[in-house]
Amino acid sequence: MSSNTPSSTLSPPALSSPVLKPLKLNSSGLGQSATSKEKPAPVSSKLPAPTLSTLKLSTPKPSSPKLSTSKLSPPKLSFTLGGSSSAKPASKLATPKLNFSLGKSTAKVTMAPAAWSPSTTSLVLVKRELETHDSMSFTFAAADQAQFDFKPGQFVTLAVNIDGKTHYRAYSISSVPQQKQLRLTIKRVPDGLVSNWLADNLTIGDSLSALNIAGQFNSTDCAHKSKLLLISAGCGITPVMSIAKTLLAHNSDADIEFLHCARDKDNVIFHDEMQTLLAQHKNFNVQLLLENSDGFASFSANTDNPSLSHQTGMVSSEVIQQLYPDLKQRTIFLCGPVGFMKAVENIAQESDFDMANFFQESFTPAADNTQQEQISSGATATSVMLHVPDFAVEAEVIQGSLLLDALEKHGVPVIGACRAGVCGSCKCKVTKGSVKSTSTETLTAAEIEQGFVLACSSTVESDLAVALS
Ligand code: FES
Repeated sequence: MSSNTPSSTLSPPALSSPVLKPLKLNSSGLGQSATSKEKPAPVSSKLPAPTLSTLKLSTPKPSSPKLSTSKLSPPKLSFTLGGSSSAKPASKLATPKLNFSLGKSTAKVTMAPAAWSPSTTSLVLVKRELETHDSMSFTFAAADQAQFDFKPGQFVTLAVNIDGKTHYRAYSISSVPQQKQLRLTIKRVPDGLVSNWLADNLTIGDSLSALNIAGQFNSTDCAHKSKLLLISAGCGITPVMSIAKTLLAHNSDADIEFLHCARDKDNVIFHDEMQTLLAQHKNFNVQLLLENSDGFASFSANTDNPSLSHQTGMVSSEVIQQLYPDLKQRTIFLCGPVGFMKAVENIAQESDFDMANFFQESFTPAADNTQQEQISSGATATSVMLHVPDFAVEAEVIQGSLLLDALEKHGVPVIGACRAGVCGSCKCKVTKGSVKSTSTETLTAAEIEQGFVLACSSTVESDLAVALS
């Protein structure tokens, strides 16, 4: 979500009975709705009920929620300065096969079958906004002016044609559902092909295809209390902002604390938007934790407007305890880099926090980076055979290679939208041989039993025969 492809490590879900609704574009005119080297779209983990949904046109809804615009009293922004820091934070894609899975579910399911077509949802760029020096928000409208429906916190898969080749990437949604515009906030990534291309080339009026919306990390399926603590770092703020704005719009009794961590003031995404929300909602409180706050004072120069509190340092047990003495009464939604999230998770566990109320989504590639680097450097050089009969592929690959990379390299039209084991787009079936998988998140037990794997999260361990369906 951002140059954000999701990979999730959601802690034990409190999904008593999530309702999986179809993601849809609503033509009523009512309200609204991340790369091998790029930041993966956020991954939410261990949720039993994946929420891969369809993106399609639907019938109008009777009414649309409205964002509160009432001016409330200035927000309370007091806190104690923190203590020590305990953590720092294919070519041949003429006929792509899209193997999205509805995945395993223990939830009440009211969803329609996944049945979208890449040609049905065309997004038109209507606005570009620079958020920070390296992140940008893209606001899209549906070509037919329909409205967007999704679950706050989810991501959308885009099909982006670059130099005649279609690339699929998943990006977190930063807007709220049931509106006629869909906003994606994307961060540039070093060597990130699609994210950087979008930032450099996508202009107002350009069209892209949206394939699906998905993501288990969302405030609809993740049962939560009325008191919440939203925690994000860097571009991880993207899905969390969608959650915050939606909750504020629909839950006037919610008590929402938002802790966002960034390197410095120039890297705070949505600063002005958070400030506006502070002015509108007395039940919303924001804290910024900056590694380096030099010059940040200028943010609060205008005393006519509410300003964001901030402090310098890293997330730590001391900071969390000082800011949120009622931590155990809250549900935590967390998104950011893996190291940051691990630190917060450790803090929660050390605080005897009930992890059933802890939901997180990371931007971590599902593949074992260390192993892949060794392979790239040639340190691991044992060859095995990859056989994909449907596409007449029989090729030598290095043992330990990422299956998705190997398939793409040899022209197999597999789609790796999130590249983080979350979206299910890369599902394929191993008919012979063995792989080592780090994620089976969107797969059902029956599919796993049948040999289905997620190519983005599996390494080739022996001679292998693979089918895309
Ligand atoms: S590319 Fe999304 S699960 Fe593999």
